[in-house]
Amino acid sequence: IKYTAIILAAGQGKRMLAGRNKQFLLIDQQPLILHTLSVFDADDWCEEIVLVTNERERSEMEALLASSPINKDVRLVDGGAERQDSVFEGLKAIRHTELPVFIHDGARPFVKADRLHELAECTSEKQAALLAVPVTDTIKQKQGNHLTTLDRKTLWAAQTPQAFSYPLIHKAHQEARERGYYGTDDASLVEQLGKEVAIVKGSYDNIKLTTPEDLHKAESYVKNQRERKVE
Ligand code: CTP
Ligand code: MG
Repeated sequence: IKYTAIILAAGQGKRMLAGRNKQFLLIDQQPLILHTLSVFDADDWCEEIVLVTNERERSEMEALLASSPINKDVRLVDGGAERQDSVFEGLKAIRHTELPVFIHDGARPFVKADRLHELAECTSEKQAALLAVPVTDTIKQKQGNHLTTLDRKTLWAAQTPQAFSYPLIHKAHQEARERGYYGTDDASLVEQLGKEVAIVKGSYDNIKLTTPEDLHKAESYVKNQRERKVE
């Protein structure tokens, strides 16, 4: 099965408090975004890569790619104000619209090929699927001063990639734009169309690097992985 990938890197990384887009921060001496791109570069199932980047960082990103070990052609497009706008720009740039499209956060460098393949298989059958993990914390809902406890057995933490047949996700984004609706992920836009989204069980390692603590976690994760390979 082949798929296309939109990798999102056009955010500002404000919560990382690094004073710059976190995509350029080094993990084990390599910029975060290159860790993420390498996973898709190495996966034979990945037919096309569109990297959504910040207009102001375009030349910096181009230089980074040129000096990187990435073999596949990575096409750059300018992102938008919100993540959802960036995804839409990415969708417009995809050429292989006959293939399922994966939408992935540039800030999730640790997704593994076996998860990508299971997701691709699921999507070719079901049109819409995402990686998610069972929630391990007890989640409270606070409305005003009233607290309730959600049933943890029904709760999943959504990750990326999220994968869709191209026409379905394109339609979902177009309708959301028309209604001025902004969701926190892409699957939610498909849910809004009344379509089912399937879950493929992900890994707890597939973290999104959001805060400075995550950067430390990432650093030790990469070092552990390397030591395991050496053994
Ligand atoms: N993203 C994007 N375009 C935007 C906003 C976000 O492409 N307008 C991307 C980010 O670069 C990131 C992914 O979407 O890879 C997930 O978003 P998030 O973790 O929120 O990253 P940032 O928006 O960069 O961080 P913050 O919200 O802390 O500013
Ligand atoms: Mg953000």
